[in-house]
This record gives sequence, C-alpha cells and structure tokens, in this order.
Amino acid sequence: MDVEQMGSDLGQVLLTKEQIDERLAEMAKQIDEDYAGKNLLLVGVLKGAIYVMADLSRLLSQSVPMDWMAVSSYGSGTKSSGVVRILKDLDSDLTGRHVLIVEDIIDSGLTLSWLVGNLSSRGAASVEIATLLRKPEAAKVEVDVRYVGFDIPNEFVIGYGLDYAEKYRNLPFVGTLAPHVYGG
Ligand code: IMP
Ligand code: MG
Repeated sequence: MDVEQMGSDLGQVLLTKEQIDERLAEMAKQIDEDYAGKNLLLVGVLKGAIYVMADLSRLLSQSVPMDWMAVSSYGSGTKSSGVVRILKDLDSDLTGRHVLIVEDIIDSGLTLSWLVGNLSSRGAASVEIATLLRKPEAAKVEVDVRYVGFDIPNEFVIGYGLDYAEKYRNLPFVGTLAPHVYGG
C-alpha cells in the first residue's frame, strides 16, 4: 500500500521511507558502538514496532536475538488510558541481559515508563529504549529514551507499523489522516 491507494484518506506524508531508512541506519550505527561485546536482546513491542524491528535489526552488524511483548494501553480511540496490560509476555529470561526496547512511537510515555520498570525488575543488566518517533507530550514523563528517530508534532500518525483502528500499518511511510477518516 502506498500514497496512491490512500486516496483522500491521507492527510500528509510526514516521513518518507527514504528518510526513515536513513535515520534507522544512523541509529543502528550508534547501537552497534554502544553494545559492542554486550549480551544484547532486542524487545519489540507488538504490533506497532514490527517494521522498526525488521528494518533496524537488519542494519545491525552483529547477530542479535529478538523477543516480543504485546501490551495494551489504548482503548479503541486515540487517547492513552494509562492502564497497561500484558497481552503477550516475553519468552526470554532477562537475567544479566542488556535489553533494548524497540518501539514505534512514544506519545504520553505511559506505556514505556511502565515497561522499563517491569523489565528492569526481572534482573536485566540494563534496559534502554529505541523509538522511531516521539511526540512532545513524552517530554513530561520521567522516561529516558536513548535512541530517538524523529521528534514529531502532536498529531495522530499512521503507517510504518502505526495504525488507526488496525488500519494503515502497512504503509511504507509515516503520515497523518484526513479529518474525515476519524469523524473530524
Ligand atoms: P503512550 O503510552 O501514550 O506513549 O503510547 C502508547 C502506544 O500508543 C504507542 O506505542 C502506539 O502503539 C500508540 N500510539 C500513540 N500515538 C499514536 C499515533 O499517533 N498513531 C498510532 N498509534 C499511536
Ligand atoms: Mg507501540
């Protein structure tokens, strides 16, 4: 799916596939350096992070294991509820591992601050975050994000893993929706 198939549902393209690829390569280089010789485990947060994980992990220069978690913090709307539930837990033991959480976006930061606390309590040697996108609200929460792809305006975005009611995840770019899609 691409711009043409979005038709009038697309607001605007915020980040092209090329911009995303270029930035992920820079992040991967930094991660390679920071974790050289360390027992790194990538933890992807389903489902939004699947494309970030797929592209970022393939840009790393070492073989790195990955695991997945599914948590729920949103209802069906576009506002964070603050309540986090584990829908699917990790398969891996975190004892002594250097965990890098791979995320699509930090909005309120509620999900990630909860997740960092949860994973740290399992005996990980370190827990850091890599996110493709960060919204301004995230600055208000005490969550230290080591790797940020892009700071974006406070708008609801879709594509590259991000959905609106489970739609539009498979767009290669990040964009906004036209107001008519969500009843605006
Ligand atoms: P937070 O807890 O508010 O930081 O956001 C938690 C989750 O909400 C993110 O991991 C995304 O899955 C989802 N989310 C936040 N903002 C957006 C958006 O603009 N578009 C799509 N999903 C979003
Ligand atoms: Mg997410």
